[in-house]
Amino acid sequence: MTSTENKYDTDTRTVTLRVNGREVTREVPTRLTLADFLRDDLDLVSVHLGCEHGVCGCCTVLLDGGSVRSCLMLAVQAVGHEVETVESLSADQNNLHPIQEAFAEEQGLQCGFCTPAMVLRTKEILADGQERSDDEVRDEISGILCRCTGYQNIINAVQNAGRKLRCGASGGCGTAGDEAKGA
Ligand code: FES
Ligand code: FES
Repeated sequence: MTSTENKYDTDTRTVTLRVNGREVTREVPTRLTLADFLRDDLDLVSVHLGCEHGVCGCCTVLLDGGSVRSCLMLAVQAVGHEVETVESLSADQNNLHPIQEAFAEEQGLQCGFCTPAMVLRTKEILADGQERSDDEVRDEISGILCRCTGYQNIINAVQNAGRKLRCGASGGCGTAGDEAKGA
């Protein structure tokens, strides 16, 4: 082992960041990935590691509202930023977040391995309040690999979640025809 390797293995740094709305401070090795920090130091086990090489996207979390692959980031790079994992949504089965409801209703969950990443990416996509076609959603989620191959259910879930967020829990905004009739 070279002296350089030894230095990096033992070097630590104090990091302070906000995770799911709460400020956390920890002493961490400088080479610790953000994914391992979230899973091992903070017990946020929704962060799923598939490839650990930036390929599968299953480790996706939101950093200041934008999706990042947490296996490719170091914890020290997140200092001063806001990180969101899927635990930031509701843990109450009787009062789920609209995106969680939509994934359940459309059977977009399947084995669940890619689901935390898909849900967070959905939150990011829908932040602009725009409707999207199947092809547009397919393109937006293409960075996350679903091994259950049920992409159509996930696309339906994203669109359903969008309707819920724009139109309320039922997702029923009415149609142009309804509006014309004064409905
Ligand atoms: S585990 Fe990070 S991209 Fe696959
Ligand atoms: S739901 Fe199984 S990997 Fe996507």
